[in-house]
Amino acid sequence: MSVPSSAIESVLIENRVFPPSDAMVKCARISGMAAYNALCAQAGGDYEGFWATLARENLAWSKPFTKTLDESNAPFYKWFEDGELNASANCLDRHMGTPVENKTAIIFEADDGAVAKVTYKELLARVGQFANALKARGVKKGDRVILYMPMTVEGVIAMQACARLGAIHSVVFGGFSAKALQERIVNIGAVAVITANVQMRGGRAMPLKAVVDEALALGGCEAVKTVLVYQRTKDACNMVAGRDLTFEQALAGQSTTCAPVPVSAEHPLFVLYTSGSTGQPKGVVHCTGGYLLWAKLTMDWTFDLKPEDVFWCTADIGWITGHTYVAYGPLAAGGTQIMFEGVPTYPDAGRFWQMIERHKCSVFYTAPTAVRSLIKASEADPKVHPKRFDLSSLRILGSVGEPINPEAWVWYYKNVGGERCPIVDTWWQTETGGHMINPLPGVTALVPGSCTLPLPGLMISIVDEMGHEMPNGSGGMLVIKRPWPSMVRTIWNDPERFKKSYFPEELGGKTYLAGDGAVRSTGEATNGADRGYFRITGRIDDVLNVSGHRMGTMEIESALAAKSDLVAEAAVVGRPDDLTGEAICAFVVLKGGRPTGDEAVRIANELRNWIAKEIGPIAKPKDIRFGDNLPKTRSGKIMRRLLRSIAKGEPITQDVSTLENPQILKQLAEKL
Ligand code: WT7
Repeated sequence: MSVPSSAIESVLIENRVFPPSDAMVKCARISGMAAYNALCAQAGGDYEGFWATLARENLAWSKPFTKTLDESNAPFYKWFEDGELNASANCLDRHMGTPVENKTAIIFEADDGAVAKVTYKELLARVGQFANALKARGVKKGDRVILYMPMTVEGVIAMQACARLGAIHSVVFGGFSAKALQERIVNIGAVAVITANVQMRGGRAMPLKAVVDEALALGGCEAVKTVLVYQRTKDACNMVAGRDLTFEQALAGQSTTCAPVPVSAEHPLFVLYTSGSTGQPKGVVHCTGGYLLWAKLTMDWTFDLKPEDVFWCTADIGWITGHTYVAYGPLAAGGTQIMFEGVPTYPDAGRFWQMIERHKCSVFYTAPTAVRSLIKASEADPKVHPKRFDLSSLRILGSVGEPINPEAWVWYYKNVGGERCPIVDTWWQTETGGHMINPLPGVTALVPGSCTLPLPGLMISIVDEMGHEMPNGSGGMLVIKRPWPSMVRTIWNDPERFKKSYFPEELGGKTYLAGDGAVRSTGEATNGADRGYFRITGRIDDVLNVSGHRMGTMEIESALAAKSDLVAEAAVVGRPDDLTGEAICAFVVLKGGRPTGDEAVRIANELRNWIAKEIGPIAKPKDIRFGDNLPKTRSGKIMRRLLRSIAKGEPITQDVSTLENPQILKQLAEKL
C-alpha cells in the first residue's frame, strides 16, 4: 500500500480537537452525537426500512416503489426499482407553487465578473425549452448525449434537460483533449454533443467547438447526428450544415413547457468517465433514484442547508463533485447557489474571497489544492489575503477530492472560517455518487486531516487482504460492506470490469473495495475524542490524485507508448507534492538512446505536449527522467516501488537483489 504524502504521516499524531459550537448543534438538522447514533442504530436494525423512509420523504415519486433493495443479482444491486420519478422534476417542478418558486436558484458569476441570476421558475422554463429543442432533434429516453461545456448556467440546463427526457448525459471536462473526447463519444455511442464556441478562463477564450470538430473527425462517431453550440462569445466557429445548430437556432420557437418523462429509479441518469488502473477510463453509471436521494440527503446532512443559505461548490460540472453539488444536489434541496465560470487566481488570487463577500456565501465547498495555492498567493501578496475581505456570511466550510493536510486545514479554519465555521472534510468518489465519510456540522468534533465518521446508514470498515477487520491504529483497505442507494451500478459496456474492480472475489464478491487505504484512530492522542475516526492514507492502486483529479498511471503510460517514433518504454508513478498533493513523474526510455542537456529538455517538452493532446493538459508529467532502461527484475517486471523512491528523491533502501540492472537507478535519479 502506498502512502502518498509526508503531510499525511504528520497527521498521525494530530491531537487538536474542535468540538461543534453550541449554536451549530442547536440549529443543525442532525443535532448531537446521540441523534447521529440513533440514525445509525435505525439503519442497523432495519436497513431497507431506513432507506425506504428517506427515499419517500426526500423525493417526489410519480409511481411509488414497493421494493427497496434487490440483492438477487449481487453485486448488481438495484434500489427502489419499480418506483418511477424524474430527476429534473425533482429539482425544478417540485418547487413550483412553493416559496422556492421565485427564489434565486443560481447566482452566476462570469469570468469577467458579470453576474446573472436565475430563479427556479426561470430555470424550469429554460430547461423545458432546451428539452424541447433536444426532442426536436430526435433525442429520446435512453439516448446518450455528450456535454463538453464551460462552467455556465447553460451546462446545468443541458444536463437537466437530458434528465427531463430520460436521456443519459455524459459530461466530459473541458480540459480533456479531442482524442479523450472522441474515445468517450465512441464508448458511449452518443447521438448528440452539446458544447460552446469557447470557454472563458482567466480572461482568455479557449476553443471547445473546434475540439469537438476534431474529435468527431477522428472517426467512429457516426451516431452523432446533432451538435448544439452555445455561443459563449460572439466569436464565430465552424458550423456543419444539417448537424450543427447554435443554441439560439435550436431554441427558436420551442415552447418553455416540456413534460418530464417518468423513468424507473434504476434508469441511468448519467455516465461519468473516471480513471482506473488500466489504460481505459471507466464509464461510471449512476441511476436516477438512488443517486438523487443521495444528492438531496447529503445537502441536508453534510451542509445542513437552510432556506436562507447561499451555497457555493467550486467544482466544475465535468467532475462528479460538479454533478452532485452543482447540477443536482443544490437544486433538489431548493437552495440558492453560486456558480463560477472562471479560475481562483483571476483577476487575482483574492477572487474566491471577493465572491464570498459579494454574494454573501454561507456554505463554501472547495478542494485542498485550491486552499494550498491561495495560502501561497496570500503570503506573496497581502492584498489577496482572506483577512482583507468580509467573510462573516460563512457558516460552514467544506473540503473535497484529496486528503487535506493539517497545515492547510488550520489556515482554512482560521483565516477563511474565522474559527467559527466547521470544516466538513468529505471523503467520497465518483463511484459513490456523493459524500460517504465526513463530519456533520452539528455532531462531530473535528480533527484536522481526518474525514471522521461515515454518514448514518453506511457500513464502512477497514480490512486486510483476507477481508479481516483491522483494529484501530492499523492501516488497511477501505471497504463498504453493504450496498447503498447512490452506488455505481456498473461500468458502461463492461460489467465484468465492474465486478473485478469493485467487488473482488477475494473479499467475497459483495464487498465494495474503494481503492483507498485508510486507518481508524485509536483516540490516544485526543483522550478518546477521535476514537474510530477514519483517515484516508491514499490510493492503493495505480491511480494518482493530482490537484484532486484522478489520473491513471497506465493511461499516461499508454499515451507515452503511443508516441512510438520516440518512445520505447515508459513507466509513470506519483510523488508527493506540496501544492498538488501528488505530482506525475514519468520515466522514459527512448528509441534513439538516452538524451542529455538541451536535447533532453526539448524531448521532455515534446512528450508533455503529446500527452496534453492524447489526454489533456492535466495529465502532463511534472517530472520526466530518461534512462537507458527501466529498473526490472530478472523476469522483466518493472520495479515501480524503486521508481517511486527515485521520484521522491529518497535514498534506495529497498532490497535490490532481484534487480537485473542496478546501475540504472543512479541514471534515473538525475533530474533534467
Ligand atoms: C478519490 C476519488 C470525492 C469527489 C471528487 C474526487 C480521494 C476524495 C477525499 C478526502 C482523502 C479523498 C480518494 C478517492 N479523495 N476525497 N476528503 N480525503 N482523499 O472524486 O475523482 O472519483 O476521486 O479521491 O483517493 O478514492 P474522484
